[in-house]
Amino acid sequence: MKKECVLVTGGAGYIGSHTAVELVNAGFDVVIVDDLSNAELSAVEGVRKITGVDVPFEQVDCCDRAALDRVFARYKFNSIIHFAAFKAVGESVVKPLAYYRNNLDSLMTVLEAMLAHGVSNIVFSSSATVYGQPEALPATESTPRQPATSPYGNTKQIAEDIIRDTAHAHPGFNAIALRYFNPIGAHPSALIGELPKGVPNNLVPFITQTAAGVRECLSVFGDDYNTPDGSAVRDYIDVVDLAKAHVVAVSRMVERKGKANYEFFNIGTGHGLSVLELVRAFEKVNGVKVNHRIAPRRTGDIEAIWADTSLAERELGWKATRSLEETLASAWAWEKHLRGIR
Ligand code: UFG
Repeated sequence: MKKECVLVTGGAGYIGSHTAVELVNAGFDVVIVDDLSNAELSAVEGVRKITGVDVPFEQVDCCDRAALDRVFARYKFNSIIHFAAFKAVGESVVKPLAYYRNNLDSLMTVLEAMLAHGVSNIVFSSSATVYGQPEALPATESTPRQPATSPYGNTKQIAEDIIRDTAHAHPGFNAIALRYFNPIGAHPSALIGELPKGVPNNLVPFITQTAAGVRECLSVFGDDYNTPDGSAVRDYIDVVDLAKAHVVAVSRMVERKGKANYEFFNIGTGHGLSVLELVRAFEKVNGVKVNHRIAPRRTGDIEAIWADTSLAERELGWKATRSLEETLASAWAWEKHLRGIR
């Protein structure tokens, strides 16, 4: 039987590269498209090394319809996973037009190309950011979305709406939006992982760089939240578990198991962890010290969020499986690999 072929846009990025690996492991053919504006070719090489498969790579900007058409003509895709997007919350406040242009144009161009080439399944990278600070926790899929607090967050909300409306207008079209909580960790091989450019915005890369001596001290943004230890609470999901959620989402659409042709799911662990708890867990698991100090709250941060993952468990048969210890060990192994630390 001919294998199903999946186009992974943004497949040289952090979550995209891990997803490409899990797709190949699950028996899919994979083609990676990335413009390398915020990713390195080494991630594609990592995917090839881990899987032993010479996964095709095309350097294409998803806003470029002609280039995308050539890719669609060269391969016969059954499904698309669309990761390609800018993702820095703070930068989006400074450069809103770049974010709206890139994140929405690329999505619409991909959707138009799909319709033109008869490709009917898409998984979209959405975010728990659509919930803002929920009134009740954990956040379920029926927790109302709240007005976005950054252009980045707004692009995720608008993108979900564009996909929903496209699915409604085209009955044979299937779409699943996965609302990620906080992805962390790296592949157990330490051959792929997160590659932040410059000073990391996200917590775990800042922790690993501090432990490696690249940064002097981690600022814990706020210890006066209404949480058990005063620091903010998030749901940290292992990137390999997250990658596997994409595989089951694609399979669900290929097998036409969806209850509607547009669906969305929370992808988290179901457990909240504070910044200070995470720092202590990292130190304990890896036997390293992470210098840290309490700093003022970061503008735009919410106090606490974690996921209700029962819908994904019930409908997708997906659940996070890697332990926090394994995940934090993989994050440190990746940082050591990058820095050449033994
Ligand atoms: N934090 C620190 N110090 C740091 C970095 C982060 O204390 O140096 C804290 C933050 O204040 C927050 C927690 O660690 O309480 C997690 O912060 P991240 O930046 O890692 O993640 P966020 O929850 O802010 O953002 C993540 C994604 C965004 C997405 C957002 C909401 O990175 O893309 O969730 O879904 F928009």
